[in-house]
Amino acid sequence: MRIFEQIESQVRSYVRHFPTIFATAKGSKLFDEQGKEYIDFFAGAGTINYGHNNPAVNEALVDYIKKDGILHGLDKATTAKKKFLEKLYYTILQPRHLEYKVQFCGPTGTNAVETALKIVRMVKGRSNLISFTNGFHGLTMGAMAVTGNAFYRDEAFINRANVTFMPYDGYFGPGIDTAFYLRKFLEDSSSGVDLPAAIILETIQAEGGVNVASFQWLKDVEQVCRDYDVLLIIDDIQVGNGRTGTFFSFEEAGINPDVVVLSKSIGGGLPLALVLMKPELDQWKPGEHTGTFRGNNLAFVASTELLSFWDNEDFSEGIRYRESILKEELTKLVDKYSDLNVKMRGRGLIYGLNFPQQGFSRAVSSEAFDRGLVIELAGAKNDVIKFLPPLVIEEELLRQGVAIIDESIAACLERKEDTIKGTLRNDN
Ligand SMILES: Cc1ncc(COP(=O)(O)O)c(C=O)c1O
Repeated sequence: MRIFEQIESQVRSYVRHFPTIFATAKGSKLFDEQGKEYIDFFAGAGTINYGHNNPAVNEALVDYIKKDGILHGLDKATTAKKKFLEKLYYTILQPRHLEYKVQFCGPTGTNAVETALKIVRMVKGRSNLISFTNGFHGLTMGAMAVTGNAFYRDEAFINRANVTFMPYDGYFGPGIDTAFYLRKFLEDSSSGVDLPAAIILETIQAEGGVNVASFQWLKDVEQVCRDYDVLLIIDDIQVGNGRTGTFFSFEEAGINPDVVVLSKSIGGGLPLALVLMKPELDQWKPGEHTGTFRGNNLAFVASTELLSFWDNEDFSEGIRYRESILKEELTKLVDKYSDLNVKMRGRGLIYGLNFPQQGFSRAVSSEAFDRGLVIELAGAKNDVIKFLPPLVIEEELLRQGVAIIDESIAACLERKEDTIKGTLRNDN
């Protein structure tokens, strides 16, 4: 590991939590240089929904390269892009009666968020935006401004203006309707909140601690948008692509966002980001928002293969089945460790276990790593263990992964106090 410490920037983070050199991966497993096997409950922070190294994808990629397919195309028309657009349209958009134009931007999530924020401001001619407490939308300037966490919002980074934060669903605990609170601020022309161009939100705040918005709250926020001529952006970068059981995380809520941003799993592990917008919002002048890496042709090839998962209902049913297992297993843990006052929340195949004891979640995930499970934390205090396995994970591995968490909790409880303190010291 010396070269990483020697020349890679201090900014590196996951390598500190998973201190090994990963070499290969298949399905829901990772293997390090020593051949040690890990179950992957992290899935590249939501990028590996369809599993590592899907054989059909690898074959298509190798075939494309062997045939000298175009690798870099700016926003020129390419065969790979044509096939991707056709697949996206006929498999995802048309069956859901979604009329969106597709914009290719730079290849990461934050690029899609920046693009979406520009569109809504341009179309509405307003600078303000509304975002929510604990929201995470990326770390370039505009996306950071709509991201809540103080760790990322250092004042020296300057651009944090023109955003009003409102309480997310459940922020004040049960029984307080934060959609009504939002409505009051927009209704009252003396509230001090400028009418925003758009409201941006995640239907489940993944990085923010696995906070799940209710369908009713999502509907109410959409209605506020309609009543006050405000656009609605859904950031489906982490919880889209099937994470909740449907392709888009908002489908079951029955809402109809004006803009949707997608990245992570849409490229099947290769960099790709998309902005989907209602046709009337597509008011760009040609070339007004560019970027050298708009649309990655290898990612188009991978994505076109992977979107076939949505040709029928089997995939969704499989996700729901896996959710039922995960939920059942996690409920057992919550009951078993009831003294720890653990809280469970989630939907689809994203679940969180919140341990209120400071440093305990990190201690458990480190212990789990030693036992062959890769799992990360979420929440402002890093106190939520986030279960994010590939959506194709085998039932046995899913159960095995949760069993490792069980053993890890038990080991952490057994271990002397100073272990947790030591982990706390190392935890940035
Ligand atoms: C909901 C959400 N939006 C945006 C981003 C930013 O994506 P990227 O890290 O690819 O810039 C993330 C990343 O975790 C995310 O979870």
